[in-house]
Amino acid sequence: MKFRNLATPALFTVILSLFPSVQAQKKIDAEGHQWWQHAVFYEIYPRSFADSDNSGMGDLNGITSKMDYLKQLGVDAIWITPCFPSPQVDFGYDVSDYEDIDPTYGTLKDFDHMVEEGKKKDVRIILDFVINHTSDQHKWFLDSKSSKTAGHRDWYIWRDGKGANQPPNNWNSTFGGSAWKLDPATGQYYYHYFYAEQPDLNWRNPAVEKAMFDVTRWWYKRGVSGFRLDAVDTMFEVEDLRDNPTLPGINKFGDPNQEVKYNAKLPEMHDALTKLRTVADESDAVLIGETWTKNIEELKEYYGGHRKELQMPMDFLFTQVNQLSAPEFRRQIAGVDKSGGWPVYLLSNHDIVRAYNRYGDGQHNDDIAKLMAGLFLTLRGTPILYYGEELGMENNDPTRREDVKDPIGRLGWPKEKGRDGERTPMQWNDSANAGFSTVAPWLPVPASYKTHNVAAEDKDPDSILNFYRHLLALRHTDAALAEGEYVALNENDPNVISYLRRYKNEAVLVALNMSNTEHTVKFDLAPQGFGKAKSTTLLTTLKPAPARIEEVSLAPFGVYIARLSK
Ligand code: NOJ
Repeated sequence: MKFRNLATPALFTVILSLFPSVQAQKKIDAEGHQWWQHAVFYEIYPRSFADSDNSGMGDLNGITSKMDYLKQLGVDAIWITPCFPSPQVDFGYDVSDYEDIDPTYGTLKDFDHMVEEGKKKDVRIILDFVINHTSDQHKWFLDSKSSKTAGHRDWYIWRDGKGANQPPNNWNSTFGGSAWKLDPATGQYYYHYFYAEQPDLNWRNPAVEKAMFDVTRWWYKRGVSGFRLDAVDTMFEVEDLRDNPTLPGINKFGDPNQEVKYNAKLPEMHDALTKLRTVADESDAVLIGETWTKNIEELKEYYGGHRKELQMPMDFLFTQVNQLSAPEFRRQIAGVDKSGGWPVYLLSNHDIVRAYNRYGDGQHNDDIAKLMAGLFLTLRGTPILYYGEELGMENNDPTRREDVKDPIGRLGWPKEKGRDGERTPMQWNDSANAGFSTVAPWLPVPASYKTHNVAAEDKDPDSILNFYRHLLALRHTDAALAEGEYVALNENDPNVISYLRRYKNEAVLVALNMSNTEHTVKFDLAPQGFGKAKSTTLLTTLKPAPARIEEVSLAPFGVYIARLSK
């Protein structure tokens, strides 16, 4: 399957320089939208993106060296998962110092250089703020565990057990086993929602709040444009620490299932995030939430309603539509779009199996990768790409327990294989280790790197990479894609999801065939005010491009995107 080649990669650079990104032009546009509402975000797992010193692990200088690649792709902001000093038990999500860089990834000087180079190219830096817990090697925790009267004792959650070898309550760690660990030195247990090496901070202590808020100020001064907030849901627990209700069955770690009722999504969390937002507003920064919600109502709460909370709570419900289903996506998109907040779409991340595997049918995976890009990059809202998604990178899951790096994969094997599969090195070319490193990288690349890599796809006008570039160039230049409202079309179609992005006298029409058979769709756009509109194809995988907008035949997994002008 082909798509209409609108421009060669070289021409992209010209297009992009003619139309600098909206954020570069002005802070707030005519519709009152701020920079992050038109920015394209891109998540980088620093250990796996670019390895400048051939250590087998990526680093900040590696990221800096790829700024041109990111710019040419159409990225405006990169979210870098934790690169702070850490024992790396959870690959950086166990922070031992919030105000430095882990030597694996470089130095503060390298960080400053990256910010500077980013500025030159209009690529902003977003850091990952691990707000719920620190490493057990953080100086705060080392002091906290040193004695019951230590200055930092109350910075974490310590309690007596219920009896000999009995933790304070029945709470499970989400990473397996009890959420409590006995510290023999003081005879008390401390609470950890994640690994035992990740003790939870006590957010009820104002000193914790102050220290953590100051961390964000420190980075804003260094040029950071915002934070992705890790595990916000579990910042608070009920004060009396009562047991969670037990549910039938056992989980993948062999623990009794339970409702996570008294240690997640407490109202106090929203108060703390609202205050954190006030700090962010001092620096015009954006807060992105790792917000796992059950439904849109819960998601809405993170936007804050009448008070300002997170600008960008991620909609993970979108990532859980785990089948190519036009009705399911239509329902999900409509819900978020009407939520009153600015939608935030992503297909995958470092904790979620790659979209290429989740949606691929094994036969048309590249077409489906373009289809999914055609969906989430044309919606009203801000997209967050996951590195390598633009290449059609696939999961490379370990096949033997002894190869697993992610501790939950070793603990939960074989039911839980861990997250190594979606964290493999970026595929730069078809040389050994996908050109990531001259030595064996920390995780192996999948065999498909031979075809799915930047160098090969750069040359192929029909590649997934060039499809992403076309789409992102459109997002940066087309007013309807940037500003337009979302108008669902043909809402009873079981196979093809279609919609308009309507803005003033212009609209962009998007039609995506989510099935493996051809379908012809008819559009009557008179009710939307575009009955007699002139249409121009912007991007399509259909060959030839449809002649008439009124009736479009979509090949299996076909994408059709057209501009309508009155
Ligand atoms: C969510 C992060 O995305 C994940 O990778 C990490 O293991 C947990 N939070 C704990 O920090």
